[in-house]
Amino acid sequence: MRILAIGDIVGRRGREYVMRNLNKIREKYDIDFVVANGENAAETNGINPEIADRLIERGVDIITMGNHTFSCKNGDIAMEDNPRLVRPLNYPPELAGRGYVEVDTGTASIAVINLVGRINMGPADCPFHAVNAALKKIDSDIIIVDMHAEATSERLAMGHFLDGRVQIVFGTHTHVQTADEQILPNGTGYISDLGMTGVKDSIIGTKKEIVLDYFYGAVKRAKFMKETEGDVRLCGCIFDVDDSARKVTALTRVNIEGEL
Ligand SMILES: [Fe+2]
Ligand SMILES: [Fe+2]
Repeated sequence: MRILAIGDIVGRRGREYVMRNLNKIREKYDIDFVVANGENAAETNGINPEIADRLIERGVDIITMGNHTFSCKNGDIAMEDNPRLVRPLNYPPELAGRGYVEVDTGTASIAVINLVGRINMGPADCPFHAVNAALKKIDSDIIIVDMHAEATSERLAMGHFLDGRVQIVFGTHTHVQTADEQILPNGTGYISDLGMTGVKDSIIGTKKEIVLDYFYGAVKRAKFMKETEGDVRLCGCIFDVDDSARKVTALTRVNIEGEL
């Protein structure tokens, strides 16, 4: 089975690129299953029910989230109503939505778990204990974990913690793709960050001028998250999983630009 994981889809430009091109990407790269991080899909923050439905209609199988899960109006409704949306498992159980989802593709059952890190990320329960508890209940052939975190050390620690217990661990959140894709010693495919799917000539998906103002100190002029225009790059990673051995046999980073 060949799985494409897509890094944080950012704003209108990012999501429209995915909606226009994903089916062709699936065909071109012979993809069986797509998981995408959608925490910035609605005007750079959060997601709403309409955007989630459209991404799924256009070829995303499961959408994972992160620290911006509830940043957008009706984000809680999307989490509650859409069984293909996954929010961090280690958030309080009272919040809307689910921390993992299991789907049957016909050839294999796949579980997708979303976790959020705790280093410079705001309050959350321990992702390591949370995923341990969830793995006792999950019985899918292939298990995929999106570790949405700031620190690469925390993400790599999760990769090794889950090595041999799940098939895929990828990181999201920092929007910059890392070049450390690897098969860990016990067969888990790992990359610290998939990168983002948004406007290339930007600063992590946000209009450059706004972010430059912010860092230069002109904070009053800076309105942080803001839509930007320009060509889009889709960043992610393709994982080849041997269904019977339940191991990743190969993984390839992808950076896709232009219309297919
Ligand atoms: Fe993000
Ligand atoms: Fe994030």
